[in-house]
This record gives sequence, structure tokens and C-alpha cells, in this order.
Amino acid sequence: MINTPRHIAIIMDGNGRWAKEKHLPRMKGHAAGAEAVRRTVEACRELGIGYLTLFAFSTENWKRSKSEVKFLFSLLGRFLVGEKKNMLKNGIKFSVIGDVSALPEGLVKKINAIKTVTRNMDKLTLTLALNYGSRNEIARAVKKLLSAKPPDNIEKAFADALDTKDMPDPDIIIRSSGEMRLSNFLLYQGAYSELYFTDTLWPDFGKKDLVKAIKVYSDRDRRFGGY
Ligand code: FPP
Repeated sequence: MINTPRHIAIIMDGNGRWAKEKHLPRMKGHAAGAEAVRRTVEACRELGIGYLTLFAFSTENWKRSKSEVKFLFSLLGRFLVGEKKNMLKNGIKFSVIGDVSALPEGLVKKINAIKTVTRNMDKLTLTLALNYGSRNEIARAVKKLLSAKPPDNIEKAFADALDTKDMPDPDIIIRSSGEMRLSNFLLYQGAYSELYFTDTLWPDFGKKDLVKAIKVYSDRDRRFGGY
């Protein structure tokens, strides 16, 4: 029997290398990466996954060229507009983690609109991590708590102050492109996540890779510190 994860989180990496291998501009790699996002969302829906969280733009990605950052935001905007019908048809609820306030106003409007229209969907929660970094998220959570009376249950109050308060912790964190690090992604929530690394570059990622990761996850023995 396959033990399917409830929450899959993915560090989508390798768009640039994919493009380089094909002698294409980096932007083509991101565009192909957006197609891989569509395939992965579809595969999660088919496989009955409850939560899919994708690392789309990190707090460190501002270091990239202005034109690449602009292209990524415009790609994200187009993705949101283009996927609205599909999300509503397939019961996909859209959500975001990260400090959205620093994103361009037009993109924030699109994000809010799609969050509103999909709020009652209940098959799959698709979360994009946008201007997200765990250290920034933790710092923002601490700031929120500093102005409140010390809570009795500090762990619960802390978890509730994080951007991820409405979702379960990720059961598995996948990273594509052969890199083996977490890069400031879900550091607190991933305390007991299974880690899975694949050499597949993100634009080539699809249902086959996802099924393979789920199979490996299913064969792991999760003990959460017990035995
Ligand atoms: C990492 O590849 C990828 C990103 C920093 C951005 C992720 C964006 C997408 C997958 C496309 C758009 C997303 C959505 C949700 C529509 P990299 O550029 O770091 O690749 P490299 O390490 O090979 O250079």
C-alpha cells in the first residue's frame, strides 16, 4: 500500500541550467518552469494530494538582475490569470506565504483576486512562496508576538504567527536539479519532513518524478523521534 503525503513542498530549481543546456536565454527556462508547475499541480490533483507548496520567489532572489525579477513577476501574474478557470474547475484553493507587501502592486492585486475567488475550494491547496524566506517569516512572527501578552502555549502561538498557520507541516520537501540544501525554505515547518533530491531540472519535472518521490516517501519509516 502506498502512503501518500498530505503536504508536498517543492524547491523548484534548475530553470537557468535547463536553458543553458539548450543554448536558450534564462527566461525560456523560467517559462518552461511555469509549464512544469502546471503539470505538477495537475498531477497532485490526480493523486489526491491535499497541499502543494512551491518556492517561486525567495527573499534572496532580489539579487538577480532587474530584468529577470521583472520577468518572473510577469510570468507569475500570467500564470495566476491563466489558471483561474482551471483552479475553480478542479477545486484548487490558492494561497501565498511570504512578505507579499514588497511585490509589485499589480501582482498583489492578482494574488488577492485569485485567493478570494478560490477561497471555498477544498480539493487541493496550492501555495506559492513569494518573497519568502524562513528567517524573514520567523522574524515577522516574533515581531507580531512581541506586542502581545506572553502566551501560555508558546509553541502554538508561534506556529500561529507564521505564514503557514492554516496548513499542516510538509511531509516531504523535494528539491530538483541535484542541489542538496533547503535554502531558507520552511526551516521551522520542515523539522520532520522527509527530504528528497532529484537530478531532474525543474522544467523537465512532471508526474513521473512526483510519483517516484511519493514512492520513496512511502517506503521511509517516519518515527518523529519515537521508535
Ligand atoms: C530556480 O531556477 C527557479 C526560480 C528561482 C524561480 C521559480 C520560478 C518558476 C518555476 C517559474 C514560474 C513559477 C510559477 C509559479 C508560474 P534557477 O533560475 O535558480 O536555475 P539555475 O540554478 O539552474 O540557474
